[in-house]
Amino acid sequence: MKKDLLSMIDLRDEVALLLDMAGNIKEWLRTGQTYGPLRGKTLGMIFEKSSTRTRVSFEVGMTQLGGHAIFLSPRDMQMGRGETVADTARTLSRYVDAIVYRAFDWKVVRELAEHATVPVINALDNREHPCQIMADLLTIRERRGSFEGLKLAYVGDGNNVCNSLLLGSAFVGMNMTAACPKGHHPDPELLEYAVHAGRENRCKIEVVEDPRQAAEEADVLYTDVWVSMGEESQKEEKERLFGPYQVNSSLLACAKSSCMVLHCLPAHRGLEITDDVIDGPQSFVFDQAENRLHAQKAILARLVG
Ligand code: CP
Ligand code: NVA
Repeated sequence: MKKDLLSMIDLRDEVALLLDMAGNIKEWLRTGQTYGPLRGKTLGMIFEKSSTRTRVSFEVGMTQLGGHAIFLSPRDMQMGRGETVADTARTLSRYVDAIVYRAFDWKVVRELAEHATVPVINALDNREHPCQIMADLLTIRERRGSFEGLKLAYVGDGNNVCNSLLLGSAFVGMNMTAACPKGHHPDPELLEYAVHAGRENRCKIEVVEDPRQAAEEADVLYTDVWVSMGEESQKEEKERLFGPYQVNSSLLACAKSSCMVLHCLPAHRGLEITDDVIDGPQSFVFDQAENRLHAQKAILARLVG
């Protein structure tokens, strides 16, 4: 049976295995060993929204795995003229070996997966961003060796990245405190799932409103944009409300001196994060961006290979 990656929950029992695979795949690339399990395979990629990292890392990843990727914009497809998601899924399944989809509405990714006979991978929707979180976990594990006893503080909007990060942290047994303003908390259903999974894995998953409380003694300080793609109309209101949630040197000083700073990028410098912090010695945001490639190659090899 085909396996989809729609939510971080789909990886619940596979995170450790995928991180090991990603670490090996990264090392093989570094040492010039060929790893081509997807020879002759094609990935179809549909992006309703802009992308730099996700698009390029999936395309390059497919090439390195011996396969090929096709970038599809709904604007140029018949979907843009009203062909249904279901018919698009059925048709593409006759040509490609897997579909990557970036959507405004998470229900569309589910609908596509329901009608596709090949694996569907969520490349970000309004609820989750699981591929990002696999790269984040890989980056943390590379630097810290394991997740045991670590505290990740997420400060900012309770958005798609935050939702998947709560789940991912719970699955690897890493404590996570998210600080989000009232009215911008993470998805309650996903949070509840993460809190339960965290309990089983002996880690604490919580949401607070005070950014300093979250950052206190943190090993990882993570933020993302305040205004996600598709939310542009909330820009002014959010920029007013989120000021105290900026990741700057004063907030970083609350964390451990060894704290790593992460951001999924793209960053809005001077808003959710200051230049001195994102460009500072504690920032690993470009390692994190690089790891999108290695983590996704592991996902592709597992789901499509
Ligand atoms: N972090 C991330 O998904 O970046 P892109 O929007 O550039 O793909
Ligand atoms: N939360 C952001 C992530 C971008 C990678 C957005 O959805 O726009």
